[in-house]
Amino acid sequence: MKRNGRATVATNAVLPGSFDPPTNGHLDVIERAAKCFGWVTVAVVVNPQKRGPMFSLEEREAMLRECTTHLPNVTVTHFRGLLADYVKEIEADVIVKGLRAVSDFESEMSTALMNRSLSGVDTFFLMSDQKYSFVSSSIVKEVFFLGGDVAALVPEPALRIMAARRAGTHRST
Ligand code: PNS
Repeated sequence: MKRNGRATVATNAVLPGSFDPPTNGHLDVIERAAKCFGWVTVAVVVNPQKRGPMFSLEEREAMLRECTTHLPNVTVTHFRGLLADYVKEIEADVIVKGLRAVSDFESEMSTALMNRSLSGVDTFFLMSDQKYSFVSSSIVKEVFFLGGDVAALVPEPALRIMAARRAGTHRST
């Protein structure tokens, strides 16, 4: 199979994450995954941590949808519970994750092994672009809500929803 003149593996890939909010690092990995795999399902986890996300599921999905409209083989959806169960439910062939640095590797390796043991599905890692190696959703949120400029780190649709939230005009549901 060829996409944009490049050979792709005809696979269904799932690219899971909290995306609270999506960053340019996430978008870069999504764009590169879309070149490698036939179909990419970007799956937002409903409850990533006990204390809950800052942005609602609807906001996170809207941010991702708006910044992936140029990628025809990418869909945005969400899942609850175990990723391994969701992977089986949608019959994904591979899980795709971004790796920013060696520090990400340890936890990602055990997660990938656990997901393979539960679902039989392997995780493929794409190295984040080095210009985004310091960018995380947590650091973006902290800087933004303390008044810092994160325009170079966050896709424009996400920045818009974040700005509305900061101005108090966009409430999560
Ligand atoms: O963007 P994040 O926070 O690094 O994404 C983490 C995510 C959502 C991929 C991970 O927390 C996850 O898969 N959660 C679903 C619950 C699950 O399957 N937990 C067991 C992992 S071995």
